[in-house]
Amino acid sequence: MQIVGRIAEFHNDLKEWRHDIHAHPELGFEEERTSAFVAQKLAEFGCEVFRGIGKTGVIGRLRAGNSPLAIGLRADMDALPIEEATNLPYRSQNHGRMHACGHDGHTTMLLGAARYLAETRNFDGTVHLIFQPAEEGLGGGAAMVADGLFERFPCDAIFGMHNRPGLAVGKFQIRTGPMMAGGAYFDIAITGRGAHGARPESGVDPVITASHIAIALQTIVSRNVRPIDTAVVSVTQVHAGEAYNVIPERAVMRGTVRCFSRETMTMIEHNMRRIATGVAGGFGATAELDFRPIFPPLVNDETEARFIADVAAELVGEDNINRAGGLVMASEDFSYMLEQRPGAYIQIGNGEGEGGCEVHNPGYDFNDAALPLGASLFARLAEKKLASG
Ligand code: NI
Repeated sequence: MQIVGRIAEFHNDLKEWRHDIHAHPELGFEEERTSAFVAQKLAEFGCEVFRGIGKTGVIGRLRAGNSPLAIGLRADMDALPIEEATNLPYRSQNHGRMHACGHDGHTTMLLGAARYLAETRNFDGTVHLIFQPAEEGLGGGAAMVADGLFERFPCDAIFGMHNRPGLAVGKFQIRTGPMMAGGAYFDIAITGRGAHGARPESGVDPVITASHIAIALQTIVSRNVRPIDTAVVSVTQVHAGEAYNVIPERAVMRGTVRCFSRETMTMIEHNMRRIATGVAGGFGATAELDFRPIFPPLVNDETEARFIADVAAELVGEDNINRAGGLVMASEDFSYMLEQRPGAYIQIGNGEGEGGCEVHNPGYDFNDAALPLGASLFARLAEKKLASG
């Protein structure tokens, strides 16, 4: 394994920063302490620092030489509303908050690259270090883009990274084209007519209506989505009624949709609305659909996906790169940035077996052994993309 020598030297600092961030997790758009920590470190390294992009987002800028080329390297900073169930010495000190997705590690890896690049400046152009808030379903990526991220900090290419439990440390995984699903949330409000539970003939039962809608929605994936495409429609909540002997007036269903293109998402929304209103109408009830796309699908640019895989292969060897990783049904809001600029997103191994606890689990922890490797990849991406001389 070829970790950048200088970065290997400060591995202990990386661990210390990561543990500090881990002990003080903050939810999306509330990353006050975390963004202050990041901003302070960036300033210490000698970066120009810009705060408040996408509320709690931070940008560090490094320049060397006079090339107009610029690269963007992005990490996420937010934690999850989970009560940590580890006994780590640096376990969460914030009740009900936890770095259960490894964003503490991602932030630290990008800080490590920033420190190295600021010291060495062995590149020609501009490096933008993008510390994004609120990745966990709150739209931090979109907020930074809406705040003029790429107008204020132009980038020719952008790169992001996420840890992958179950993949050994020292291995990377990526795919070209669509890699992670786009996601939407939906609410279906059904209105019937309330009645005594013993006199159904005098009402319109929204519970029966909701049940039929839930079943019918499952035909969208099997009958409307092309069999060679991939999609999920999950009804995850059904709420109605409060008494044993009352047929309620209303029922609410909620859930999520995942797929890999905007066209498929639009098609699913259209069919969902037709089924919900049509089925409800058949029972004499009404249904209203509120459909909210949350993330676009994450799509890796072909050239940049090859580039990041090639740079990773120089670090760990081609044998440790899987360039044909599987589709991931989870979503990732780096996709908002990848819709704006060419770039790629790669998975970095977080360890197998004992260290392989899944993300979003209360027993999860980022693997410190991966820190210098991820920092090295970020650093080398900048040095290769902005090669001097
Ligand atoms: Ni994550």
